[in-house]
Amino acid sequence: MPRTRTQVVIVGAGPAGLLLAQLLLREGIDAIILERRSADYVLGRIRAGVLEQGTVDVLEQAGLAARLHREGLIHEGVEIGFRGQRFRIPLRQLTGKSVTVYGQTEITRDLMEARAAAGASSVYEAKDVTLHDWEGSAPRVTYRQGGVLHEIECDFVAGCDGYHGVCRASVPTDRCRTYEREYPFGWLGVLADVPPPWNELIYANSEHGFALASLRSPTRVRCYIQCDVGERVENWSDARFWEEFQRRIGHGLTETLASAASIEKSIAPLRSFVIEPLRFGRLFLAGDAAHIVPPTGAKGLNLAVSDVYYLHQSLREYYRGRSERALDQYSVRCLRRIWKAERFSWWMTRQLHRFPGDAFARRMQDTELEYLFESRAAQASMAENYVGLPLDG
Ligand code: FAD
Ligand code: PHB
Repeated sequence: MPRTRTQVVIVGAGPAGLLLAQLLLREGIDAIILERRSADYVLGRIRAGVLEQGTVDVLEQAGLAARLHREGLIHEGVEIGFRGQRFRIPLRQLTGKSVTVYGQTEITRDLMEARAAAGASSVYEAKDVTLHDWEGSAPRVTYRQGGVLHEIECDFVAGCDGYHGVCRASVPTDRCRTYEREYPFGWLGVLADVPPPWNELIYANSEHGFALASLRSPTRVRCYIQCDVGERVENWSDARFWEEFQRRIGHGLTETLASAASIEKSIAPLRSFVIEPLRFGRLFLAGDAAHIVPPTGAKGLNLAVSDVYYLHQSLREYYRGRSERALDQYSVRCLRRIWKAERFSWWMTRQLHRFPGDAFARRMQDTELEYLFESRAAQASMAENYVGLPLDG
């Protein structure tokens, strides 16, 4: 069996795994990434679009922001659609900060290119990744590639392998506590090459359900509608999607869209999830492996970035001074931020979607939105959470 050694094995080459590897590389810490899928598959997944300033700062610090600054779109406000009207939340005016619209696919591409340029490689299509002895001081990770079993000895394992990964699943249930909420709907998303007829994102609460008008560039839109959990993409022709989207987002917006051909269409379930703690011996969880937020708050990728930023700082302190102090604090530091993002994402989801039944809850939702439109304090609170917290230290 081929055997190698590295300092950190990173499981998963999504944004969390790739960024952690890049941050460690800059500190002179060796890492090997193991990814179950192919590079093309990872690049084909269309997900996040909105980056907080803290995320942009980390990417800049990692030397990864040149294209982001050229192509990313700065947004100084977002709109809320309700009862046929649109209400603007002026993010910049209320917080002094804005957000950047730049697709997760583009970040992933920038990270892959930076890794290749540094001569560091990742193992794609690594099957049967298995963790061994992560509770002791000499963990090992085995995987299969092309039918051959490989083994890597390491100091630490970083579980960046998403919600369905192997790392969190390796932790016995009596060693952790999990918190979960599933929502009774999903999001059907469409990507299309058509100039966006909106300047800022519109989050719409309509009597037919939630809709989100987003974008990726001056020539590409990304749109979502709330759908049933069991809904299938095949049931949604482009024409049916645009008709429903128009009904929810409001008339007059989407005439140019009605004939746009989708280049991607997918359904994502909505879930809130947190595991505590995030450290188990020599295993650390980061990103979607540790927590899920419904996408309404645009927080998932931003949280993945703050987790790995804190993890790389902790590992740097360990290797510089052989002190476990920062490693011990990793969970607490991340969880403070995670729970705030969970609260905000849950709040946004609750205010904007149509839930089954419950007339009282519906009136509370109406009243909460009316309050948001009337109260500057409520708008400032929403804006502060949407643009995100600074990454301390
Ligand atoms: P992932 O991107 O899931 O990467 C994990 C990787 O691990 C994958 O490549 C997977 O193939 C690999 N893997 C899994 N199991 C194994 C295994 N056993 N062995 C090896 N590799 C494995 N976030 C925002 O901040 N802003 C937004 O606007 C936003 N919008 C979103 C819209 C939608 C529709 C969705 C679905 C999500 C959105 N998110 C958003 C969330 C964001 O996309 C995720 O939080 C982000 O992808 C998390 O990155 P990650 O690297 O932790 O996990
Ligand atoms: C996106 O553009 O994909 C997007 C934007 C904002 C969200 C979620 C997704 O809240």
